[in-house]
Amino acid sequence: MIKVYVSRFNSEIDKEPHLECYEIKKTPQMKVLDALQAINEKYNADISFRSSCRAGQCGSCGILYKGNGALACQKEIQDGAIIEPLKFPVIKDLIVDKSSIEAKVKDLNLSLQCNHKNELDTDINKQDSAKTKKVRSCIECYSCFSTCPVVNIATEEFGGPYLMRYISKFESDPREKFDRLKEALDEGLYNCTSCGKCLSVCPKNINTFGDAIERMRAIAVANGSGPLPEHVSFRENIEKNGRSIKTDKTPFIKEATNKTGSKIAFFTGCMVDYKFPEIGHTLVNILKENGIDIDVPEEQVCCGSPLLRTGQTELVQKLVDKNKEVFKEYDTVLTVCSGCGSTLKNNHPEFGSNLNVMDVSEFLVDKLDSSKMHNVDMKVTWHDPCHLGRGQNIKDQPREIIEMIPGVEFEEMKYPCQCCGAGGGIKSGKPDIALDLSKSKAEMIKDTGAEAVITICPFCELNLQDGLDAIGANDIKSMHILELLKKAYE
Ligand code: FES
Repeated sequence: MIKVYVSRFNSEIDKEPHLECYEIKKTPQMKVLDALQAINEKYNADISFRSSCRAGQCGSCGILYKGNGALACQKEIQDGAIIEPLKFPVIKDLIVDKSSIEAKVKDLNLSLQCNHKNELDTDINKQDSAKTKKVRSCIECYSCFSTCPVVNIATEEFGGPYLMRYISKFESDPREKFDRLKEALDEGLYNCTSCGKCLSVCPKNINTFGDAIERMRAIAVANGSGPLPEHVSFRENIEKNGRSIKTDKTPFIKEATNKTGSKIAFFTGCMVDYKFPEIGHTLVNILKENGIDIDVPEEQVCCGSPLLRTGQTELVQKLVDKNKEVFKEYDTVLTVCSGCGSTLKNNHPEFGSNLNVMDVSEFLVDKLDSSKMHNVDMKVTWHDPCHLGRGQNIKDQPREIIEMIPGVEFEEMKYPCQCCGAGGGIKSGKPDIALDLSKSKAEMIKDTGAEAVITICPFCELNLQDGLDAIGANDIKSMHILELLKKAYE
């Protein structure tokens, strides 16, 4: 038997939706839709929900499963499931009123605006249409819209991934005569944090933040309508010194550069080199403590992530080529910043570089000698950086490392993989959105009673601390996992 929690709402008797618990027998591969039917049969519950094709094609059965958008006909039910309606006004139980977004689509005239006389003269070559095929394969289940943290948490309006994808479909059509880019900018093209939640819940695997949002940001930059003024310094700084930020400290690499003969090299990233050199020194020391040497190559440069995320793609090939040359002699390249790791793994291959990149947690998890660790009496929780959990599919290893440290008490927060708002150029370009999201995350951290939130991304680390400070929880510290390990090895 499994327990299933279903959101119930009947406007005639309820003021607001509430969860009801049902127990049913789970059959192999039982889907949410089967479970709802089983509940209705067993309890005569009369739960209202939509479905049609039952094959993942029509999108009508969209629901929230433990807070994430999903198709009820495709999602396998598990014990403890929480099934709620999508984030629209509820009509009854799981049936929602989507008229607001349908009206928006109507307002934006989201159909091809072309001069039909000339339409046939426009060449739509197969390559162009193959490139946008994925973006055109949406089945309108609204999972992405209902799960997007900016749509749901931030106070600033954002059309969200559904509309961005929709606009991008027309923007990329050579027959389109309307200025779709302006529409995208008006709907918040620069409000997306690149968290990847929309891709992770999309039943059609549409990469809206990359193939629609970042693609349109690059077009905006090319035609002079992007990026945001605050993003220009990323490119200027990189042009000057290979780093996306400035520093008044001695860069970590200047102090630590070495040649040990090791086949492992450290890709520091801009934040560790210029802002958090202590994280870099801690990595070198912890590896030494565990009998591992690491090289810190001097000539390395920014991975290009701040440029890719904000549409300033012009310099990226140069950065990729430079890093490819610098790291070519190494078997393994270690990162301590999830954004850098994800960019090196996911974006650099498109620019012709395929280094063997490992996040520090996947490298260390089977190499740390816990017998040398001291007790660290601390209660902690873990924040999954978007570019680690979704970007690199790394979730277990950091948790295993934390649990390895004697004395540490670990408690999960409610949604550890919810975006903190640090990425996608949001922290600098749209600080209010970054703060709204980090405050929401800070409340979850506070609810665990932890003294520290651990992560593997200097951007998240900074933004989480801002959120904690903003809700008056500045006694809780935001920490890189290496800082926690340092306490264990001190
Ligand atoms: S019923 Fe059609 S997609 Fe689920």
